Amino acid sequence: MSAQSDTRKARPGSWQPATTSDPMLRKHGSLGRPISRVDGPLKVQGKARFAAEYPYENICYAALVFSRIARGRITRIETTAAERAPGVVLVMTYRNAPRMKAPSLMMSSPSAAGASDLPVMQSDEIHWNGQAVALVLGETQEQADHAASLIEVDYASLPADTSFEEAKKKPRQLETLLGQPPILEIGDAENALKASPVQVDNVYRTPRHNHNAIELHAATVAWKGDELRVHDATQMIDLTAGQLADIFGIDKEKVRVSSPYVGGGFGGKCLWDHQILACAAAKLAQRPVRIMLSREGVFRLVGGRTVTEQRVAFGADNDGTLNSLIHTGVVAMTLHNSCPEQFTFPARHLYAAKTFRLAQEVADMDMLANTFMRAPGEAVGTFALESALDELADKLGIDPIELRKRIEPEKDPTSGKAFSSRHIIEAYEAGAKQFGWHRRNPMPRQSREGEWLIGMGCATATYPYHRFPGTAASIRLTADGRITVSTAVHDMGMGTATAQTQHIAARLGVLADRITFEYGDSALPRGVIAGGSTQTASIGGAVIAATEVFVEELIKLAGNASPLAGLSLADVEPRDNGIGHRNDPGRFETYESILRRSGRSELVCQADAPPPAEMEAFSMHSYGAQFCEVRVSEITGEIRVTRFLGSFDAGRILNAKTATSQFKGGIVMGIGLALTEETNFDERTGRIVNASLAEYHVPVQMDVPRIDIIYTDKADPQAPMGARGIGEIGITGVGAAVANAVFNATGKRIRDLPITLDKMI
Ligand code: MOS
Repeated sequence: MSAQSDTRKARPGSWQPATTSDPMLRKHGSLGRPISRVDGPLKVQGKARFAAEYPYENICYAALVFSRIARGRITRIETTAAERAPGVVLVMTYRNAPRMKAPSLMMSSPSAAGASDLPVMQSDEIHWNGQAVALVLGETQEQADHAASLIEVDYASLPADTSFEEAKKKPRQLETLLGQPPILEIGDAENALKASPVQVDNVYRTPRHNHNAIELHAATVAWKGDELRVHDATQMIDLTAGQLADIFGIDKEKVRVSSPYVGGGFGGKCLWDHQILACAAAKLAQRPVRIMLSREGVFRLVGGRTVTEQRVAFGADNDGTLNSLIHTGVVAMTLHNSCPEQFTFPARHLYAAKTFRLAQEVADMDMLANTFMRAPGEAVGTFALESALDELADKLGIDPIELRKRIEPEKDPTSGKAFSSRHIIEAYEAGAKQFGWHRRNPMPRQSREGEWLIGMGCATATYPYHRFPGTAASIRLTADGRITVSTAVHDMGMGTATAQTQHIAARLGVLADRITFEYGDSALPRGVIAGGSTQTASIGGAVIAATEVFVEELIKLAGNASPLAGLSLADVEPRDNGIGHRNDPGRFETYESILRRSGRSELVCQADAPPPAEMEAFSMHSYGAQFCEVRVSEITGEIRVTRFLGSFDAGRILNAKTATSQFKGGIVMGIGLALTEETNFDERTGRIVNASLAEYHVPVQMDVPRIDIIYTDKADPQAPMGARGIGEIGITGVGAAVANAVFNATGKRIRDLPITLDKMI
């Protein structure tokens, strides 16, 4: 930084959600436009460097050996042959691993980041089938892999809870469901159900899912004295830096984690054992280390979505009035993780019912820590809830969209709070029109072409709005008139940098090509995790605060000789690469000119986002209506999704192209959830037996039909930029939309995901 730079430090943002989001943004046309990703050219040229691509001199490569029992102890570990194998640098086991503190569990404190809080390779204890028991460093990956295959491990097994059926018999009550009470009761829902003329009461099951981002989990790490440099593939750089510092007993300032490009992350690209092991091995070997998990390694070390069993019951009058809404159930968890798969969340705010009983508990198992995976809770919760609602509509003989209109609440039905913005019925109507819903015959099995039965289904998508506190952004103006905005956040391909570039351009009245958005590095001002569809709003809050400080500083800097002399923030608006009086076109000066006249080479300002007060005051959610058409072969039971349309209400859309891509990606993942994805967990041994993409079936090109995306684009007055999150909602409701379409096609109601051929015949 030059001697002439001027840094204004974190001052609480003056921006308040209710008053701001719009005036600037309405004026400037770039927001919402389908601008291509700013990182696109680097990616297509192969110049974007991913975590496993950083070259270091003298680097060595890590391979892992995974436990074959679910619980117990290592009784013998024979590493001599591996140590003597060609190219081996070292073998690390619990016997020689450096002493490290255990990670602290994500959400146990604001700075904790561990997906599990188990110590990593510190003793002979085994906690899950697949735990890393040895790490080999080799001069090449192949040498490391070969040596790892020579390690022999014997175990003494202890009794392990590996059966969900058994574990369910002794459920644990949760203390909290991500900060909400795990049991929510309004009135006497069981009795209201019994007293209702129309009742639906069923159990729905969803299986485990594993994270399968195209980019394998990887890190390149290097120590320089007690300084640790980590190139990670992560959605939480800042927390990872803090956690690694804690684990290795060094100051956070000594750890720098960067992750500018990530090849997919849906809750799984967090802090797992592999980064910690790589740092430990690099310390032991005193060499830089690259670790890239094999696809099997991802299944063994990176947790996924857990198994659920859910009961949904509706008690209704003949006109659809809901007397009772019950959503209860159980998920598998471990004692060492923090993701309760909050499947009861959608039922808290979607429908006006007179009574509610929403409750979930957990069954503890000896398994890899389950974790957050795209719309944890909502993805599987909406499968149960929205299937059940479709069953109710069928029983009532009311069109499912008409039923939703009749039970649309005016305010949040369980919290009593006002909705910040809710246009779900509009989303349904627009979607129904474009999809041709009126062509659907409400009677199942009425539409066919040869052996193919054709059906349509719809379901509601929903995901909450959150904004995490603690995001800071800095803004730097340089003499060339360029503006750089920096914050330690993430772009995993979803378009963060692109949308924020548009936002900053709009807010400062400059063209997007003058803006650089810096992110993906823990050395930048503190950012939040890319999770819970919160990042965009969180960054927005910080950027708005920083731009306000920036404009104020510029007015001061402009001084008496400027046409801006005597004006305050409230008098001005950014426009045409500078600042002007709101009502006087003549009073204007460009950013460049202000800086030049001040004699400075740059101006740097920084601010924190204001606390997320809007979340307390309002019920804030994104919504959508998912429409699906399927064809089911009467002969083979084969199910083909032939058309899909998602109609979303997610606040203002910041970039039509990247947003559409996010929604579509969620729907594609939802088609996998509906039809093919299932982790086969061997209940006898606790081992995942389909730990490869050959046997774990994600949707491929031929499984995905044309998907149309439309949205209401109504700015949420309570959200920064008017935008709610869009990253996770796409997957929600898809399971039910497919199941409901399958019912409409065949008359078969499948309540157990995935809907595979065997369930159809
Ligand atoms: Mo998402 S499960 O918060 O990446």
